[in-house]
Amino acid sequence: MARVVAVANLKGGIGKTTTVVNVGAGLALKGARVLLVDTDAQGNLAMALGVQPRRTLYDVLVDGAPVERCIIEARPGLDLLPADATLLGAQPIIARRPDWSRVLAQALQPVARSYDFVLIDSAGSLTPLNVNALVCAHDVIAPTTVEHFSVKSLELLMAQIGRIKGGAGHVRMIIPTMYDPRVRQSSELLALLRARYGDRVTPPVRVNVRLSEAPALGKTIYEYDPRSRGAIDYAMLVEYISQAFGFTARPRPSDPPEPAPAPAPVTTPHRPVSTVAPETCPHCGRTLQHTSLAGYRISYCAQCRFKKQELVRDRGQG
Ligand SMILES: Nc1ncnc2c1ncn2[C@@H]1O[C@H](COP(=O)(O)OP(=O)(O)OP(=O)(O)O)[C@@H](O)[C@H]1O
Ligand SMILES: [Mg+2]
Repeated sequence: MARVVAVANLKGGIGKTTTVVNVGAGLALKGARVLLVDTDAQGNLAMALGVQPRRTLYDVLVDGAPVERCIIEARPGLDLLPADATLLGAQPIIARRPDWSRVLAQALQPVARSYDFVLIDSAGSLTPLNVNALVCAHDVIAPTTVEHFSVKSLELLMAQIGRIKGGAGHVRMIIPTMYDPRVRQSSELLALLRARYGDRVTPPVRVNVRLSEAPALGKTIYEYDPRSRGAIDYAMLVEYISQAFGFTARPRPSDPPEPAPAPAPVTTPHRPVSTVAPETCPHCGRTLQHTSLAGYRISYCAQCRFKKQELVRDRGQG
């Protein structure tokens, strides 16, 4: 059964859609079966992925169309249930139904078993469909910019989610977005977030112009510029989220075969085998951690946030 995750914040323009696209695409590149659901009438998910939907969530929720017929394959392993402006007209219709807060959950039920993750993108206000997204989700991930007003409004968000889901504990992760380490206030607010919300705060996504350029071309950040800071940060976030939800990378049928392992070194009985020391951080000396995505191997330090990446193979999408 899919893990259903709502990506939500009551503020607009703070990186919800960017997070859904690049976390979803990253999970799919790691072999997960991912469905993205757009509950925002702006329809930004389809635009960001460069697809032109014929049927949308409106058809499912209002006209009763079978959900499978409205889902499109955006990339291998990455499906989309899109939205467009017609969804504005759906909201008052849904709001009149007695079971209005569960219509999305009911609509997704027939396909939930086909996916590892269902990621729901939502609008920046508490619309009936946003309430549906929160009711339907097992977990909520809240992106927030690292700015004074955004950090302040998190309390309100927690309270609202608590009211709808019966406990703020459902906010599984807070993702600091558009983080600028050169700005002192940005670092101070990130420290404040960590002090207040502890390990619910994920590694930050830095401000990166490539992330804002990619959607205009209908590309994920791994397709548009896999060497960018945005690609590294989202790849690390994908690794973090995979671990938190217990997902282990698996090859997709279309993946090129892994290169054959190097032959074992020939050793003579009396000579000790030389062991390769683990790679360490050039700044603080800690052992580096590794993840790979879109053909790149990313090495990072969990202590001081040092990062570097190397191309390991051409993956077609990157
Ligand atoms: N880390 C980043 N660095 C630079 N620009 C970013 C970053 N993340 C997102 N953006 C840009 O900021 C803008 C808002 O991002 P996005 O659309 O993801 O926010 P949103 O919360 O979904 O907004 P809305 O509430 O309107 O749906 C977009 O132009 C996006 O490309
Ligand atoms: Mg959005």
